[in-house]
Amino acid sequence: MKFPRFKGQIPFRMDLKYLLKLIFRYQTSESKKESAEACFRSYFQREATFMSSYRVGLYFSLNILKLEPGTEVLIGPLTIPDAIHSILFNKLKPVFVDLDPADHIVDLASLRQRRTVNTKVLIVTYLSGLAPSSEKMKSLVDFCLEYQIQLIEDVTQAYGATVGAKVGANINGHFFGQFGRFAIGSFSAGKLVTSTYGGVVASSAADKKLLKDLTAEFTSEQSRWILFYKHLYFCVLNLITQRAIFSFLTYPWLWLTWSSKVSDEKPRLLAFLEKFDPFNDEFLKVRRECFPRDFFFRLNDWKFELLIESLSRLPEVVKRRQEKARYFCSRLAPEVRQHLPPAVENFSGSNYYHFPIRSPIRNEGLREALFFGGIDLVGYGLNLCHRESIFSEYTQECPQADLIKQNVLFLPFHEDYSLVELDDIAEKVNQKIQPFLSSLEVELR
Ligand SMILES: Cc1ncc(COP(=O)(O)O)c(C=O)c1O
Repeated sequence: MKFPRFKGQIPFRMDLKYLLKLIFRYQTSESKKESAEACFRSYFQREATFMSSYRVGLYFSLNILKLEPGTEVLIGPLTIPDAIHSILFNKLKPVFVDLDPADHIVDLASLRQRRTVNTKVLIVTYLSGLAPSSEKMKSLVDFCLEYQIQLIEDVTQAYGATVGAKVGANINGHFFGQFGRFAIGSFSAGKLVTSTYGGVVASSAADKKLLKDLTAEFTSEQSRWILFYKHLYFCVLNLITQRAIFSFLTYPWLWLTWSSKVSDEKPRLLAFLEKFDPFNDEFLKVRRECFPRDFFFRLNDWKFELLIESLSRLPEVVKRRQEKARYFCSRLAPEVRQHLPPAVENFSGSNYYHFPIRSPIRNEGLREALFFGGIDLVGYGLNLCHRESIFSEYTQECPQADLIKQNVLFLPFHEDYSLVELDDIAEKVNQKIQPFLSSLEVELR
């Protein structure tokens, strides 16, 4: 059996249905927006305001805080460059904090060390949908309360994830996105809740009113053809990662064109097509002066329908992922399990958007060994923004974040995988990782 690095989060049938709908239905009505708002209100337990993207939601959320220029905003470095732009466009100062290898969320010690009297905001991204322990979450919330820091949660990868039921009665069982002044999520393609493009800000009713005033001038819709292309692109990805097609066509093609550098270099066609994606800021060479006009659009009925459908599937999807993750971990050898970030084994909290494993030495060697064993995999695509030359004046040491980006790989994981498939992946990982574990032992000796 062969396994792809990415498998569409929504069934191929549904992707195709929405591609066809996109051709014929492209209008905006208040009623669809209200239905979608009601669904997200009930999910977040507070008001929801739709945005064109996460980054625009972050830009506006920071804007309504009306902070003094130069106020410091703490943020983990593994994020999109436009998150840093959103801070800078509000005349605020980004301060990078290191990440915690246990859960890929900000590191508490680094937070305390980098906070100053000018710190007023903390942006926390729940990477990979890993659920930190209740103690860690409580410490984060307490830290913000103690120093009167506004917490902003990036829930893009954490839909359906909850804080586990261990300690801290008032935190248990809550979905991520219910702790901060704002919770902001992206609905970009591939997420557990998606509308191909889009985003949401969960907030109080008073903040919603302010956000609504700011977004009132978004009267235009996104170009149908940009949306069509992006959705088509994901339909194709979904198709070529279907079991049989991947095993008999896609994998052999990857095998023939395999290069160990492939994780850094995008296939040329992909890189070319991504030029048309307004939100592709991965390879920005110069710092932006402002967000381009095509960042600001309102969502239409097509997106709202897709959102309602994918949000309604979420509880079942996360439940199945959690069950399968528990089973999968039980099939991994104990020495391999030691290389999972501990939050991976928080089976009742994490949503398994990704299934991260820390490569014992460097990820390229393990990646190659697993690829030739039938498992194609990659790690975080997000940028290490503290290392981006366009933000050089804000550079800070974040060694743990560097290691997370360099050494973490995502094992193939999907709620549709059968137990036999999970056994196969676990067996291959157990086998292929052994030589790396032995050489690590030699190095440590
Ligand atoms: C954690 C996280 N935050 C933010 C974003 C960006 O979202 P958007 O493109 O909607 O601005 C992404 C995109 O993949 C992401 O993974």
